[in-house]
Amino acid sequence: MTVIEETDFAELFADLDRLAGFGGSEGGGVSRTAFSPSFTDAQAWLAGRMAEAGLAVRLDAAGNLIGRFGPPGPAIVCGSHIDSVPNGGRFDGALGVLAGLAAFRALKTEGHVFDRALEVIAFADEEGEYFSLFGSRAMLGLVTAPEIEAARGTRGKLLIDALRDAGLDPALVASARRPASDFHAYVELHIEQGPVLEQSGFDLGVVENIVGIATLEVTFTGRPDHSGTTPMRQRKDAMRAAITYCQLCYDEAAKDEALRLNFDDWSAAPRALNVVAERVRFRQEIRHPDAASLSAFVAKAARFAQGAAEESSATADLRELARDEPAQMNMVIKALLKAQAEARGYKTLVMPSGAGHDAQLFAPICPTGMLFVPSVDGRSHCPQEFSKPDAIRLAVTVLRDALRSLTRI
Ligand code: GLV
Ligand code: MN
Ligand code: MN
Repeated sequence: MTVIEETDFAELFADLDRLAGFGGSEGGGVSRTAFSPSFTDAQAWLAGRMAEAGLAVRLDAAGNLIGRFGPPGPAIVCGSHIDSVPNGGRFDGALGVLAGLAAFRALKTEGHVFDRALEVIAFADEEGEYFSLFGSRAMLGLVTAPEIEAARGTRGKLLIDALRDAGLDPALVASARRPASDFHAYVELHIEQGPVLEQSGFDLGVVENIVGIATLEVTFTGRPDHSGTTPMRQRKDAMRAAITYCQLCYDEAAKDEALRLNFDDWSAAPRALNVVAERVRFRQEIRHPDAASLSAFVAKAARFAQGAAEESSATADLRELARDEPAQMNMVIKALLKAQAEARGYKTLVMPSGAGHDAQLFAPICPTGMLFVPSVDGRSHCPQEFSKPDAIRLAVTVLRDALRSLTRI
C-alpha cells in the first residue's frame, strides 16, 4: 500500500484551510472556543463534509459531532476536537478530526470492507473554555448535572448558557452518555505541541502516556489598608502572600523535570494601587505523568499556601477544582501504530504527552492509542503553531493503515 494519495492529501489540506477560516484571525491564529458562533458554524460545515464522505452524521446532546460508517456494534473511534484556545493555532485538534475523515475517504476509495464500524468524532470543549474535555466526559458519563450547572467559563459565562446559545439543552446532556460496549478501540492523531520530535529528528511519535492534571483555585485574604502609611511589616498583604506562594511552587517544580506548572485568571481586590490587597485569587494547573508525584505536589502546594499566608499575616484557601489522572496508552494499539510506521521506514519515538487529550478518558474504557505529528519549533496554543505537510502525510498514512487493520476482523 502506498502513502496517502496526492489527491486525498490535497483534499485534507483544503479542509484544514477551510476549517481555519472559522474563527480565523488576521495574524493566522484561530479563536474557535467551544459553543461560540464560529465553533457551531465550523461544526455545521464539518457535518456537511462528513456526510459528503459517506458518514452517517449526528450531533449528540453534549455537542459532540459523530460521523459513523459500518455495521452495528462496537466502533473504532478516531477522535479529536475542533474547538481551540483563544488565539490558538489551526492544527491542534482540527488536524486529528480532519485526518480521521481523510483516512476514512482513502479507505472507502480503495474499497476497504469495514467489518467494524468507524466513528470519526469531533468532541466538544476539549480545551476547557467551560469544562475541560467536556464532550468526551459527557459521552463517557464522567460529568454530573450539578457540575454542569455550576461550570463557568474563563470569561465568566455559564456553561449552561453557552450550551443554550449553541442550540443544545443542558438538561439533556446526560443522554449523550454511551456504554463502554459501544467502543472497540480509540485512536487519535494530534500534533505533538512540543519540541521533542523535531529536535531529536523523529518522523512521528507514538504516545506512551498522557499527563495527569490537577486544577486548583487559590485565594489569599489579607486586610485593606493605606499602602503609603501602613509600615510593610504591619500589613496583612494578600498580594505578597500570593507572590511568595507562586515562587515556592516554581522553586519546587524546578526540582522535577516532569512537573509542569501554570497560573492564570488572576483577580485582586479592591484593585487600587494605594490600597494593600485584601484578596488575591487565581487558578493554578499542576501536571505530572505520575499519579503519586502529582498528588505529592498538590499536598506540598497546600503547605506552601499556609506558609506563604502566615509570612504575610494573611490567610489561604486552596481548593482542588478538578483532577484528571495520568493515562497509559494500550500496549496493543501502541505496537500496531509503531509497527505500521516502522514498516514504512518512518523513525518513530514512543513518548509521553504533556498535553491533555480526549484519548485520556477513553484509555480506561477501551484500547486507546495516539500518534503525534512533529510541531515546528514546538509551538502550540498560539498562531505560530505549524506542522509540515510532509510530516502530516506520513502520520495520516499510518493512521489510515491502523484504521484499516482495526476495522477488519
Ligand atoms: C489541552 O490542550 C491541554 O493540554 O490542556
Ligand atoms: Mn488538542
Ligand atoms: Mn489544545
